[in-house]
Amino acid sequence: MSVIAVVGAQWGDEGKGRVVDYLAEDAELVIRYGGGNNAGHTVVNPHGHFKLHLIPSGIFHPGTRNLLGNGVVINPPALVAELDGLRGAGFDGDNLFISDRAHLVMPYHVLLDQLEERERGAGKLGTTSRGIGPAYVDKVARRGLRVIDLVEPETFRARLAAALPRIRRVVAGYPGAADEMADEIDAATDEARIADAYLAAGTRLARHVVDGQGLVDESLERGERILLEGQLGTMRDLDWGIYPYVTSSSPIPGGASLGAGLPAVAIDQVLGVAKAYTTAVGAGPLPTELEDADGELLRDRGQEYGTSTGRARRCGWYDAVAVRFSVRLAGYSSIALTKVDVLDAFDRILVARAYRDPADGREWTTVPASTSVYERLEPVYEELPGWQADTTACRTWAELPAAARAYVERLEELASVPISHVSVGPERAQMIVR
Ligand code: IMP
Repeated sequence: MSVIAVVGAQWGDEGKGRVVDYLAEDAELVIRYGGGNNAGHTVVNPHGHFKLHLIPSGIFHPGTRNLLGNGVVINPPALVAELDGLRGAGFDGDNLFISDRAHLVMPYHVLLDQLEERERGAGKLGTTSRGIGPAYVDKVARRGLRVIDLVEPETFRARLAAALPRIRRVVAGYPGAADEMADEIDAATDEARIADAYLAAGTRLARHVVDGQGLVDESLERGERILLEGQLGTMRDLDWGIYPYVTSSSPIPGGASLGAGLPAVAIDQVLGVAKAYTTAVGAGPLPTELEDADGELLRDRGQEYGTSTGRARRCGWYDAVAVRFSVRLAGYSSIALTKVDVLDAFDRILVARAYRDPADGREWTTVPASTSVYERLEPVYEELPGWQADTTACRTWAELPAAARAYVERLEELASVPISHVSVGPERAQMIVR
């Protein structure tokens, strides 16, 4: 070993956090390579039940270093709050490192995220309102502030002062908001207040700030085991997801090399993570969505509520077309299939093996670029028998009910990739390795 990238194969929330937590036991370094505190990972381990937003899931293993890579966008006060939460649970966070090249999410990014969503009205994207998109926009527009600026207060102040006049002009372009959101606007554009809060957070975070690439390079030199922890999934990838219902970074492995700071050829394995059914938060087409009792049952049994936002997740049957699309883009060595136990209650289980366009009868086995075409595609289902037995105590492949094994094997066939891990509950031990 080896560098393993752990990548979401669906719309996010596949259970990457629990898979990383499981694998991190053997890893020396875990790197988050994209996204920000829009992420939500729930990790249940012997220390308790944790909700992580920015901090990589390897944080609970004292011997594992955790890096927020250059591809991540960081909200410093939010990160300090998350670290404080861990401290309360007995973790000092000494094993957290932050790349000096990562960009910052500023208060005005959060404000712009909200203003842009308001303006989209019925066409809103359903973002997490954490300022992620606007922070990446500033990065690409070459006017962002970075972690390194936090430890150089003079640079920070100068770049902030340079950014704010433009932000005020942009905000003034949303006249409807001026009254309703006056307080938020004031707070998000108040130079002194932002500088105080961010530089104070910077002082707290300074001991964690490193040359990320240097850290990664040393780790590679020593032949250490490295995990690259993805955020979201292929269907929300900026390039490959259902545009514009996407995030502003690249969850696929191509994004991992860039956002972690290691050569693409250094990635030895890519582990895809797929849930045994489908969930999504946010807007946009979701062909297998169920708005009936089956959908309710999935939500209820799977506790499908957003970790970051608390929003109820949209639920539906497993979409083999979406996962196959992800397989082609990400080149998974194998897949970890999570939350199989959530299906224990169903007497029959549907799987979308293709889509059909009602306009012309055409069958689709990939994801179209056109979002309006995708919106009208209907799933072509096949039905598999349920097992209606409790799988949560199963620890080996042989212990799984025959119908559950048949379900996993069918998904494996449809993905054309082996399913190497099957999880039957949130605890570390509830992971079957085949
Ligand atoms: P943003 O990343 O907040 O800009 O949101 C873009 C899209 O990604 C929206 O559909 C969000 O609901 C979705 N999204 C962002 N973070 C997560 C996550 O951690 N889990 C699931 N969906 C997410």
